[in-house]
Amino acid sequence: MNLMRTKTIEQSIRDTEEPEHQLRKQLGPVQLTVFGIGVIIGTGIFVLTGAAAGVRAGPAVALSFVFAGIVCALAALCYAEFASTVPVAGSAYTFSYASLGELIAWIIGWDLILELALGASTVAVGWSTYFADVMNEFGITIPGWAYGEGHNFLAAGIVLILTAVICLGIKVSSQVNFVMVVIKVGIVLFVIIAGLFYIKTANYTPFIPPAGSPGAPGAEPTSSLLQDLGFAPGAFGISGIFTGAALVFFAYIGFDIVATAAEETKNPQRDMPIGILGSLGICTALYVAVSLVVVGMVNYTEIAIDAPLAAAFRSVGQPTFATIISIGAVVGLTTVMMILLLGQSRVFFAMSRDRLLPPAFSKVSERYGTPIRTSIFTGLVVAALSMFVPLTELAELVNIGTLFAFILVAVGVIVLRRTRPDLERAFRTPGVPVVPILAVLAAFYLMLNLPASTWVRFFIWMAIGVAVYFLYGARNSRLVTDPNYSREADEAARSRRSG
Ligand code: ALA
Repeated sequence: MNLMRTKTIEQSIRDTEEPEHQLRKQLGPVQLTVFGIGVIIGTGIFVLTGAAAGVRAGPAVALSFVFAGIVCALAALCYAEFASTVPVAGSAYTFSYASLGELIAWIIGWDLILELALGASTVAVGWSTYFADVMNEFGITIPGWAYGEGHNFLAAGIVLILTAVICLGIKVSSQVNFVMVVIKVGIVLFVIIAGLFYIKTANYTPFIPPAGSPGAPGAEPTSSLLQDLGFAPGAFGISGIFTGAALVFFAYIGFDIVATAAEETKNPQRDMPIGILGSLGICTALYVAVSLVVVGMVNYTEIAIDAPLAAAFRSVGQPTFATIISIGAVVGLTTVMMILLLGQSRVFFAMSRDRLLPPAFSKVSERYGTPIRTSIFTGLVVAALSMFVPLTELAELVNIGTLFAFILVAVGVIVLRRTRPDLERAFRTPGVPVVPILAVLAAFYLMLNLPASTWVRFFIWMAIGVAVYFLYGARNSRLVTDPNYSREADEAARSRRSG
């Protein structure tokens, strides 16, 4: 069994042209950027800022956002090269199939489930709390049994509704998304501008609270692998900036998902880099501004862990502003879930097209031009996860999975430059191999700042994935079972060698 077998780029692109596997190409640069912002701004800024400032970094949470943003920018430069070279659905999965071989591709596809499906469930759980809050403001009390841990009907319900939207077609999804993004960015700007008037400069001292100082009430104490191994204190001080960054990294997840829409983009060579880097840049600026404003409004020792932005306005006597922000959060989290679901269904789609998953998942509906079965399957899985599993604490598992994907993509850029120097690359990552190597190191460093328990869960999940591969994918892979398919791949490889 050849675990290093790769699928040629040409084959990947040819696959997208097979009529039964064709997705509609409808997205341009603006839609892609909006799409990116739609999935990036969410639970991270609306919720996790509280825990990051309150028990990890203090006012220096702004620096946590800067550091996490730098890690993402390094990775984004690698994603942009890949997405512009291999404009095929499936993101990191497809990239690694073309560069690092089938086993690694499978591992990354399996790993992306953590980012996408688990991420969507995490956000759905957060959404349900905000939604109940907003309803409460309007005098409608949603009973606790409808959205409690282990029986979250609200979370499951919103996931199913969004699944229906996605099934109707990516065009529809992107229009719904556009409206929601406008509202969401509006709310974020509102927080920044209105908040400026309530900043007390005294709240900025100490900007980096000393290690071991007490934090906000109600938050779990921090932990990180480095801390558990005795290398760093973890909370506050310089090391707190990094544990904070490892948490708020969640806020940036999504720019990479823009790459999953490559196959539905009209001019991916030009538009992918714009979409990926553009949305990341805009969100970084907004995050740094929001976090600076919030820790200026409330002292970090008093910051609310659950809904820091709304609570900050309540604490300065502006409950109406708080309600507006909560509504913005409900809307904002909705788009995040929708696009995470979309991304997950496209990754399953790509894996199924390669027969690493059963073929039924890659059938495209003639009527809607979307892989409807996969979307429904994804929706059901995510709904079940968010209904039964208390996932709020699992944001860190989502983070470790995503950071691992970044590492493989960065390595893939270096490998593909060696193995396929001939490929046309509309966007070239600058400074190869330095930039990809920095991306690997930075992502790995953030992983070290995540709790040891997260590492354990991550390894267990990956071990299950490897087992599934050997039981199913390794035998059913299209590279093995379709003689024409592998012959074409072989011929392409031969002509490359001789040419
Ligand atoms: N970046 C997304 C969020 O913060 C996943 O919700």
